[in-house]
Amino acid sequence: MSQGRADRSLGEGTSLYVHVPFCVVKCGYCDFNSYVVDDRSVHDRFLDALDAELEERWLDGPPVSVFVGGGTPTLLDPPRLQRLFDVLGRHVDLPSCPEVSMEANPESLTEEKAGLARAAGVRRFSMGVQTFHAHHLRFLDRAHTAERAEAAFASARAAGFDNISVDLMFGIPGETVDEWESDLERALALRPDHLSCYNLTFERGTRLHRDMKRGAVEPNDQEVDRRMFLLTRERVARAGFSAYEISNFAGRGGPCRHNDHYWMQGGYVGVGPGASSHRAGVRVTNLKAVDAWAAAALARVPCAATAETLRPTQRAAEALWLGIRRAEGIDVAAIAERLALPVERLFRSTVDKHVAAGLVRRVDSRVALTPEGLLVADGVGGDYLEVALPDARQNRP
Ligand SMILES: C[S@@+](CC[C@H](N)C(=O)[O-])C[C@H]1O[C@@H](n2cnc3c(N)ncnc32)[C@H](O)[C@@H]1O
Ligand code: SF4
Repeated sequence: MSQGRADRSLGEGTSLYVHVPFCVVKCGYCDFNSYVVDDRSVHDRFLDALDAELEERWLDGPPVSVFVGGGTPTLLDPPRLQRLFDVLGRHVDLPSCPEVSMEANPESLTEEKAGLARAAGVRRFSMGVQTFHAHHLRFLDRAHTAERAEAAFASARAAGFDNISVDLMFGIPGETVDEWESDLERALALRPDHLSCYNLTFERGTRLHRDMKRGAVEPNDQEVDRRMFLLTRERVARAGFSAYEISNFAGRGGPCRHNDHYWMQGGYVGVGPGASSHRAGVRVTNLKAVDAWAAAALARVPCAATAETLRPTQRAAEALWLGIRRAEGIDVAAIAERLALPVERLFRSTVDKHVAAGLVRRVDSRVALTPEGLLVADGVGGDYLEVALPDARQNRP
């Protein structure tokens, strides 16, 4: 099969994302839509509303993947976690879905909860470990210790999970390359089936961003982050992992299909507060606040806060922006065919500029990042989005 054909089948079908918006603490770096809510009646209302939203929204055939994320899905107590699976199971046949993933946090994952997930058809866990260093865990406001993370990983294995991914973060202020290397070693010692290693970003609206603005926290030297990034690629490759995306490494468990589908601009439906959906160029984002979203879902009225129909140039720009992050790059001819748009001509001068600067290479109709380009991937992707900026502006209400 040619590479281009592989690309086409990768983005086919529709994925389902389920957002569970509750957390034990709000981590200082996190801008995901999550809230610290101890009142379990709110969890119940969330589950009622999720059932109602799925009834209205999930109209397609079986999803090509399901991802239960958050927030912290494992924060739900066992009866409510079981109810979450019962609700999902009423709308989707989880055991027959090609991939069902769930985010698991070390502070709340127990063997009992892992067992419930397994019995319901969840087959992949993505566990947020971030770091094994106590002072960095404290700095990030994480609600667990390194030992707890290892114990939670063992609980998932004991419950029968043979596909567990570990999330790590590097570039924590003050972190040294040696500390990052020891984090990688300790994660690899767990023998995970997939790894995600993210460079910490200072997201607007977070505690970390505010601390940086008032000078209380200083980001790491960029050269240190660069060395950590390169070290990661070299070390995990030696451990047999394949770098299929900038921050994602496939081990025995293979790539995360759900994320690959998203990077290939496949259609997805997101349910839960703040979740986004994207089908055939129409992007809808749900109301963010749990109460407002639940009220709409339960009243059987649309839960959307915003809806936007993307213009073809925007879709092409986003396809390049997302696809360039994948190791095999993106097939420009395949996007052109899908969108019936002269993508090669529209982006030629930008791609030429990147090729001349040694940041991307062309192989037949594909463009992919060079080793130099990998280091500035956000900038390269941003340049593609900029091509569609005039159209994006016109699209704004
Ligand atoms: C949806 S988030 C959190 C999932 C889960 N609640 C947890 O805390 O592990 C998924 C991953 O994104 C990464 N992440 C979140 N915020 C980030 C940031 N500001 N910079 C870099 N990575 C971040 C973390 O590694 C996290 O595990
Ligand atoms: S990083 Fe995870 S646990 Fe922390 S606030 Fe964000 S979603 Fe919640």
